[in-house]
Amino acid sequence: MKTILVTGAAGGVAARVRPYLRERYNLRLLDLREACDLAANETAIVGDIADRDAVLRAAQGADAILHLACAYSLDIDFEATLDANYRAQLYLLDAAREHGIGRFVFASSHHVLGQHRVDGFAGDHASIAPDGFYALSKVFGEAACALYAHRHGIKTMSIRIGSATDTIGDGRRQHIWVSGRDLAQLIRVGLEHADVSNEVVYGVSRCAAPFFDNARATELGYVPQDSAQDNLSPAFVAREAMPASEGPDFVGGPYVPKPLIVRTPQ
Ligand SMILES: NC(=O)c1ccc[n+]([C@@H]2O[C@H](COP(=O)([O-])OP(=O)(O)OC[C@H]3O[C@@H](n4cnc5c(N)ncnc54)[C@H](O)[C@@H]3O)[C@@H](O)[C@H]2O)c1
Repeated sequence: MKTILVTGAAGGVAARVRPYLRERYNLRLLDLREACDLAANETAIVGDIADRDAVLRAAQGADAILHLACAYSLDIDFEATLDANYRAQLYLLDAAREHGIGRFVFASSHHVLGQHRVDGFAGDHASIAPDGFYALSKVFGEAACALYAHRHGIKTMSIRIGSATDTIGDGRRQHIWVSGRDLAQLIRVGLEHADVSNEVVYGVSRCAAPFFDNARATELGYVPQDSAQDNLSPAFVAREAMPASEGPDFVGGPYVPKPLIVRTPQ
């Protein structure tokens, strides 16, 4: 079994994909907090990805990196993203280079396109339109993957995750939801497919009127098993009924109406 270093391994997305991934891989679970419910082939490491030496140690001997950790909130300021989302991205990619790790899967976000309007949205063909400093850091993360893919031949896949929740709360997320099972399948494509070089795909399950065709993921063999329509919350709110604060007219939803803060006053 190959060994995958998973960052952000105590978080929500990791909890949803670990049960599928550990069937195929040994998982090394790196997080600021200790990951819970470990299987026999999972190891928890408590550490900060913004600590370059800690990253180098955690990555030694791994066959691939799945990078999920990040700092985010609806109105996160720029300065608060610097360590976890910029410096650490490079520390991880550079650890891959240093240790000869050939695969890197990065949890990006649909928020890199968040400021586009839903009506007339060009989906896979839309230009970058980050909806805040969290999204801007994901644009950087994707570009950093491209840098290391082209310069050092690391096979990278950036997955623009839609909404990875158990159930779907509203009519915007209905078009971008992804199940843990489908996301794990897409991660496996990134970890194994021979044609991966420097890819950008969408982490979405099946739904009616999807925001994204996800053509590249389909080319690489991704076949989502789960459907948004089967996973609506009992408290589901249709898009027409969503309040303006939830940004119903924008791909990025509630991030769009938030102010851009470069540095929160101390
Ligand atoms: N959940 C979603 O719907 C969604 C949507 C789009 C993109 N994503 C992306 O998927 C990834 C995982 O999201 P999530 O929902 O699991 O988030 P989460 O907040 O539940 O988990 C993130 C984990 O990263 C860890 N972390 C943060 N900073 C760290 C650091 N400096 N060193 C080590 N660990 C650190 C946290 O402790 C946390 O356990 C993120 O990159 C996020 O941007 C998630």
